[in-house]
Amino acid sequence: MEPRRIASLKSAASFRDAQERLGIDLPFDESVEPGAEAPLGRPYHWRGGTVGNRFAILPMEGWDGELDGKPSDLTIRRWENFGLSGAKLIWGGEAVAVRPDGRANPNQLVINDANLASLERLRLRLDTVHREHFGRTDDLYVGLQLTHSGRFARPYDKRKMEPQVLYRHPCLDPKFGLGADVHLLTDDEIARLVADFVRASRQACDAGYAFVDVKHCHGYLGHEFLSAVDRPGRYGGSLENRTRFLREIVEGIKAEAPGLEVGVRLSIFDFLPYRAGPDGRGEPWPWPGLGSPYPYAFGGDPSTGLALDLAEPSTFLNLLEELGIHWVCTTAGSPYYNPHIQRPSAFPPSDGYLPPEDPLIGVARQVAATATLKARHPNLAIVGSGYTYLQDWLPHVGQRVVRDGGADFVGLGRMVLSYPDLPADVIAGRVSDRKRICRTFSDCTTAPRNGLVSGCYPLDPFYKARPERERLAQLKRDTLGPSSSSA
Ligand SMILES: Cc1cc2nc3c(=O)[nH]c(=O)nc-3n(C[C@H](O)[C@H](O)[C@H](O)COP(=O)(O)O)c2cc1C
Ligand code: SF4
Repeated sequence: MEPRRIASLKSAASFRDAQERLGIDLPFDESVEPGAEAPLGRPYHWRGGTVGNRFAILPMEGWDGELDGKPSDLTIRRWENFGLSGAKLIWGGEAVAVRPDGRANPNQLVINDANLASLERLRLRLDTVHREHFGRTDDLYVGLQLTHSGRFARPYDKRKMEPQVLYRHPCLDPKFGLGADVHLLTDDEIARLVADFVRASRQACDAGYAFVDVKHCHGYLGHEFLSAVDRPGRYGGSLENRTRFLREIVEGIKAEAPGLEVGVRLSIFDFLPYRAGPDGRGEPWPWPGLGSPYPYAFGGDPSTGLALDLAEPSTFLNLLEELGIHWVCTTAGSPYYNPHIQRPSAFPPSDGYLPPEDPLIGVARQVAATATLKARHPNLAIVGSGYTYLQDWLPHVGQRVVRDGGADFVGLGRMVLSYPDLPADVIAGRVSDRKRICRTFSDCTTAPRNGLVSGCYPLDPFYKARPERERLAQLKRDTLGPSSSSA
């Protein structure tokens, strides 16, 4: 059954019907309330201060930094847009590598002494733009996402993966062509990486960031620790060992940057990797142990690898609370091996597959899993993700989720690339500009997968006018066929 286009669901009744047909039950309000007292406009208070409203900007890199890891003009423009969005929580800005060999692409930002002043200017630029539009920044909370790309490192050459893995993976190794010579990180190398994260956190603090996100999602290194069930030694096996990396980093941050808050962006569940089947639709990777338990999906049901089991993620959140961590951003899976559970889309990126399920099911899965964890951990500040596919219905669902306590913040990813000031419009009660609503064409993912800078080529006039747009259109015709043009 082909998914119903969200743009065609013009009434609450039709949105409800579409859900009934799919057997899902997304919370939503029929109308959206404007103003500072409304669920999305209301401030969030916590022991460290106040965050002015309930919109968060999710981290989004643009594959557009300079080769030495400094922000480029394109990076600065994206952060200016984050500032003018009206959202008061900036969750991490974008993934910033703690050292050059940990970059996911040669144009990823890197935090080190040489780049510190430019990373501080990036934050200040966001602050300035925010103040110009909204008059104050004392209720704006800005963090920096710290990463090492591990298995998905591609640090020096766009065409060459240089993975550093924690364990040999029965599906991901063959899927990404990793041979016997792949670099397995030793415990000593991990200890050095911990020191890099701690040093990077101190530097982020010096550059004025209020918190760092020690990234544990999307298949990158932090996330890979959580599924290292058969790695021997200090960092694998038991959950205690698999969380040692995080615990050591947090201990180091407390010692070296005591004023800095720590957050964690976590893939709260994972599935088997997927691949395109004969008809182009996604299907689970036929892992050699098919039929036997699949233990490598953190938060996944080991009996199938295709459903959720939130027991370990909930224990992980207990640990965060014990460590004094207040900020959590939920996400799922990985854009590299199961993008449909991570960023539900109508149109696949060039290295993806046609949706194996209606993308609304993917949104509902993330919203429900986040609400389950929020109910179990009411004292944590929880930011949800994966809302963009809701398109015109995003504010209606987001408002209801926050009103019901299913999350404290609504995180916005792709929507902010096409329609940066959506949060300001919602809070001001302005009618949404439908022409700028992200329709999940995936060009912002297809472009970087093919070595181009990321951006909203279909809807943002700035990217529409860039020369890369024609190359991207050609690439899509070559890989996805003649009917692939997005908009
Ligand atoms: C172009 C692009 C870049 C992204 N970069 C990052 C990143 O640097 N760090 C991260 O944690 N997630 C990253 N994401 C994932 C988003 O933060 C978000 O989880 C995802 O897009 C789903 O949210 P949405 O439905 O609102 O788009 C990226 C997504 C896109 C589309
Ligand atoms: S390219 Fe634009 S419309 Fe397409 S998914 Fe990205 S933000 Fe949305």
